[in-house]
Amino acid sequence: MKTIIILGSTGSIGTNTLDIVQRFPGEFRVAGLTAGNNIDKLEEQIRAFTPRVVAVSQEAAAVTLRQRCTGLPVEIVSGEAGIAQVASLPEAELVISAIVGAAGLVPTLTAIRSGKHIALANKEPMVMAGKLMQEEAHKHGVRIFPVDSEHSAIFQSLEGHRLEDVRRLILTASGGALWTVAKEELQHVTPERALKHPNWKMGSKITIDSATLMNKGLEVVEARWLFDIPESRIEVMVHRESIIHSLVEYEDRSMIAQLGLPDMRTPISYAMRYPERLPLDLPSLDLTAIGTLSFCKPDHDRFPCLNLGYESLRTGGTMPATMNAANEIAVDAFLNGGIRFIEIAEVIRQTMDAHTPKAVSSLEDALEADRWAREKAESLVHALPR
Ligand SMILES: NC(=O)c1ccc[n+]([C@@H]2O[C@H](COP(=O)([O-])OP(=O)(O)OC[C@H]3O[C@@H](n4cnc5c(N)ncnc54)[C@H](OP(=O)(O)O)[C@@H]3O)[C@@H](O)[C@H]2O)c1
Repeated sequence: MKTIIILGSTGSIGTNTLDIVQRFPGEFRVAGLTAGNNIDKLEEQIRAFTPRVVAVSQEAAAVTLRQRCTGLPVEIVSGEAGIAQVASLPEAELVISAIVGAAGLVPTLTAIRSGKHIALANKEPMVMAGKLMQEEAHKHGVRIFPVDSEHSAIFQSLEGHRLEDVRRLILTASGGALWTVAKEELQHVTPERALKHPNWKMGSKITIDSATLMNKGLEVVEARWLFDIPESRIEVMVHRESIIHSLVEYEDRSMIAQLGLPDMRTPISYAMRYPERLPLDLPSLDLTAIGTLSFCKPDHDRFPCLNLGYESLRTGGTMPATMNAANEIAVDAFLNGGIRFIEIAEVIRQTMDAHTPKAVSSLEDALEADRWAREKAESLVHALPR
């Protein structure tokens, strides 16, 4: 039995993870859960999975949750210290990192420094401080298993092969909700429309990232650090059907890919039980029913965010953290009706242009760049004409 902790248990990845736990009784024990403030879902999860410690962001939410859980054998804590306490519970060996955004950096790093293996869905910390996270993982004998479907596909396609034989990594992109929308029309896209992803059901932030293609920009940075390969050998290909989850090309021009229906439970369960494969009771992929798969190049004119990901890597240092923070502010502003869809890329671009990058030698360097970029992006959002 593997003892696990889920950071971000109330989200899309968190609930899919708990679905796997429920489907395989006897395989996993849940020691700790964390969430932002969704105490209704967290209470259900406490009753169903009996974690020993649970953390929420705000003490006010913890107070209510404690009242609701009176008599249950659970400790409820709050704030950054509470989330760090859960991330480092001594009895757990694996942490599913599924908080959204930069908020996951400190808890994920805390888990690494406590010697826990990581199933990494929360890509933003890898973008902010990928080199540091890998160094810390190495120092503490920790493995980081990718959960992102593209990176899981690459991880699986690399198995049994030599890294020095790899020529290119090819990340596939669905193109998101707006791939077929004309440039002029992108000006008027509403959040509701951008949130209609054709293939995946995910949290709102990553769904907007998919629509802008920033998700792929973040994933290029994530792949650079997960697989220790320069960005010049990481490519992106649009594949609308989300069946081929990514590919590796080797020096002999063989390509190895991983295929499957778009369901996050496959990559999550692989990261949770590596190297075993759990017998998931999901529909099989029937390629004869699909018939045709399509591929094309990304459109950088309509979706400039992908190139910002490459650019941030080429600049290096704190630039990826800056890009990530500006994106979080811009996406939030778009979702709240504060800016237009096309202005997301503009806010990120201008924040990056204003940034003077420095090396990320410590956690504080990444956090400082994050703080600076949030402030800058906020001011750009407010300066935009309504
Ligand atoms: N969803 C997918 O299929 C998918 C696929 C690949 C990668 N990912 C990555 O996985 C991560 C999670 O994505 P998601 O779609 O599951 O997001 P989500 O549905 O929005 O869930 C986010 C989780 O993080 C918690 N959270 C949010 N802000 C927090 C904060 N400041 N402090 C502590 N906890 C906080 C949320 O708690 P509340 O519910 O209380 O707000 C929730 O549990 C993202 O980095 C995303 O890019 C997701």
